[in-house]
Amino acid sequence: MATADQFISWFRQSSPYIHSHRGKTFVLMIPGDGVAHPNFSNIIHDIALLNSLGVRLVLVHGMRPQIDAELIVRGVEPVFHGNVRVTNDAALPAVISAAGQLRIAIEAELSMGLANSPMHGARIRVSSGNFVVAKPIGVHDGVDFCHTGEIRRLDIDTIQRQLDNGDIVLLSPLGYSPSGEVFNLLMEEVATTIAIGLSAEKIIALGSHKGALDADGQLIRELTNQHRIGEAIDSDESLLKACLSACNAGVRRGHLISYQEDGALLQELFTRDGAGTLINQGDYDQVRSATIEDIGGILELIQPLERDGTLVRRSRELLETELDRFTLIERDGMITACAALYPFADQPIAEVACVVVHPQYRKSQRGELLLSHLEKQARGQGIKQLFVLTTRTAHWFREKGFETATLDDLPEQKKMLYNYQRSSQVFIKDID
Ligand SMILES: CC(C)(COP(=O)(O)OP(=O)(O)OC[C@H]1O[C@@H](n2cnc3c(N)ncnc32)[C@H](O)[C@@H]1OP(=O)(O)O)[C@@H](O)C(=O)NCCC(=O)NCCS
Repeated sequence: MATADQFISWFRQSSPYIHSHRGKTFVLMIPGDGVAHPNFSNIIHDIALLNSLGVRLVLVHGMRPQIDAELIVRGVEPVFHGNVRVTNDAALPAVISAAGQLRIAIEAELSMGLANSPMHGARIRVSSGNFVVAKPIGVHDGVDFCHTGEIRRLDIDTIQRQLDNGDIVLLSPLGYSPSGEVFNLLMEEVATTIAIGLSAEKIIALGSHKGALDADGQLIRELTNQHRIGEAIDSDESLLKACLSACNAGVRRGHLISYQEDGALLQELFTRDGAGTLINQGDYDQVRSATIEDIGGILELIQPLERDGTLVRRSRELLETELDRFTLIERDGMITACAALYPFADQPIAEVACVVVHPQYRKSQRGELLLSHLEKQARGQGIKQLFVLTTRTAHWFREKGFETATLDDLPEQKKMLYNYQRSSQVFIKDID
């Protein structure tokens, strides 16, 4: 049991996440297996908490096993072509029935408010409706998919209005055509299209595993394009692909977490390490160590700042010897940002230097991404503090958690090399 001190410290540590999530739009997708899992009621409690904290939530549920169960009851054989259900006339009533039952069951769970339960006082409003306009996917490989459809358009304005109202928008993977027909859609398509349409901050997929797994079954904490997605996963593959495509289309972050693990959603959203796999927007952005081929690109990036005095001049020769200290962000073969970490032998402190983002790529968190990379790298080397000397970027570093320090706080070797003419300010950040 946590002590009061632990609780207070934990609650305070989550406050930056609470501030940052408030007013943001998250689209959650949970397959039918997840809705049927015993942990689903805990997920509902956590969704209620997010709603209370001012997160704008859209919840899209799947219903594959529930449709299969309805088909069995009706004695109808399920038909698939590839991985996609063929919703023929006999299957459509099963789809409608499964959707109705699931939607009502989820609405009921979100309406609970029993005393002594986490839902006490939540008073959640749920909105559902005909927000998705669909059309048939038609005939493929000679197979008529009948009432299986795809999205034609979304009523984004109405969804936004419900979210402005503080409602949770709950959507089944169904759409309606102007001819008045019902179409069975893929949950992943509904969730990604809505996330993109709403310019959501996050798309969060709840799958059967902890997150995306690599070939050895280990959790991939952060997905970059170094990971081939074929390498990851099995049953959660379509969820991961959906997150990746949403992120490639402008959704800022994707998360793949487990619906089986109690509290995974809160851990993912309110702790630094998270619980599952984080997918960053622009996974074309590769964060990697510098190699000798990068010298030209780094010089191109830093020389304009050396000329205007923002950075201390580094010769090509010096850069060559210090290359292993540099981390880069590359996009489509171009270096868009760099930063360097200079450790001091046997001391738990390192210098962050040469943090530069190409002017065209600023204000998209690349600087922050690099800094968090250097922090992780430093922690891995047992380093407990980072320092930076800067003349013009003090506020940026302060916003990233660096605090004003003095020359005396620096390692001896650095003090001796301090250039008094530059009058750089010293900032230190504890990263332990
Ligand atoms: C500082 C720098 C690395 C930030 O890169 P970035 O990818 O744009 O950073 P982020 O997206 O994480 O943060 C952007 C925010 O920082 C602010 N910012 C940028 N430079 C700043 C500065 N010198 N002082 C205060 N805030 C600054 C931006 O205005 C923006 O805030 P806003 O969105 O609220 O307007 C980049 O501006 C840069 O390359 N600057 C020139 C080189 C430099 O000064 N390097 C540091 C010397 S070690």
